[in-house]
Amino acid sequence: MEKVVSGIRPTGNLHLGNYFGAVKSFVAMQAQYQCMFFIADWHSLTTHPKPENIQNSARTILAEYLACGIDPQKAPIYVQSDVKETLELYLYLNMNTYLGELERVTTFKEKARKQPDNVNAGLLTYPTLMAADVLQHRAHKVPVGKDQEQNMEMMRKCARRFNNIYGIEFFPEPQNFYFNATALKVPGLDGSGKMGKSEGNCIYLRDDDKTIRKKVMKAVTDNGPQEPNSQRPEVIENLFTFLKIASTPDTYQYFDEKWNDCTLRYGDLKKQIAEDLVNIVAPIREKIEEYSSNTTLLDKVAKEGADHARQSAAETLNEVRKIIGFRVY
Ligand code: TRP
Repeated sequence: MEKVVSGIRPTGNLHLGNYFGAVKSFVAMQAQYQCMFFIADWHSLTTHPKPENIQNSARTILAEYLACGIDPQKAPIYVQSDVKETLELYLYLNMNTYLGELERVTTFKEKARKQPDNVNAGLLTYPTLMAADVLQHRAHKVPVGKDQEQNMEMMRKCARRFNNIYGIEFFPEPQNFYFNATALKVPGLDGSGKMGKSEGNCIYLRDDDKTIRKKVMKAVTDNGPQEPNSQRPEVIENLFTFLKIASTPDTYQYFDEKWNDCTLRYGDLKKQIAEDLVNIVAPIREKIEEYSSNTTLLDKVAKEGADHARQSAAETLNEVRKIIGFRVY
């Protein structure tokens, strides 16, 4: 079975955009591939977070992913910093990676611009750490968004270069796995393009029913349909997208017809969307709360995940050490 590895940014508080995007794709993938997911807390050190935030954010994220349906029996989930084997591979990969190519990575240039006082070596070598994350498991596929394309190129370059230097087909070149092609894009509630944290237009999986209803009822609309069968403006189409995501096809058709014969009342449409979203979010929220209060279980899941990942990485590193010419005990 093909192996899939993906990192998760350690910023908790998932919203519906994350849920219907990456998270649901992860849940679907765990049935078809040998998946491993990890919380990328080493990567987060490039911005110097506070120690007290690190452990808690790992638990927060674990609770959220478990609540969404990641099954650690099928897809081990671990905390990056628990598996120190990664660092050894990171070192080897850094030896074969050139300053010039790292400096050309757009995400590096962007971050260097954003934090000019903290352009550290970790920021520069972010792509080789990311390569080590995946290559240590000799994974075949990495679910990523478009923004990670260059990092994925670097990862394949690391694999290829290692194989070339030692004249051995050891690392597979991991392929991008674009879940976005099939994933549902959740719009914002403010009429703007997409649901996103920085846009401030999110429904979070931790929102209570009242908050969800309030957010939906406040969604931007217009004066209503003016002519039969007219095209919907973006703000209204966005509401229909929510309907498509959260409601049954019958319900969608019902409101679609109302739009087309100009009898649609946005209040009714929003109420429908709100109730359907509540029905999706409430059970997840309850599970998040349940998991969050069970730190023993969360720590057990993380430990078992780490044990699994460590073993997988150690097998690779043993081979790598032999290939390079180091001793293996
Ligand atoms: N760079 C990824 C992001 O910003 C996170 C990440 C780190 C990752 N290591 C990874 C993703 C390995 C996939 C595979 O979202």
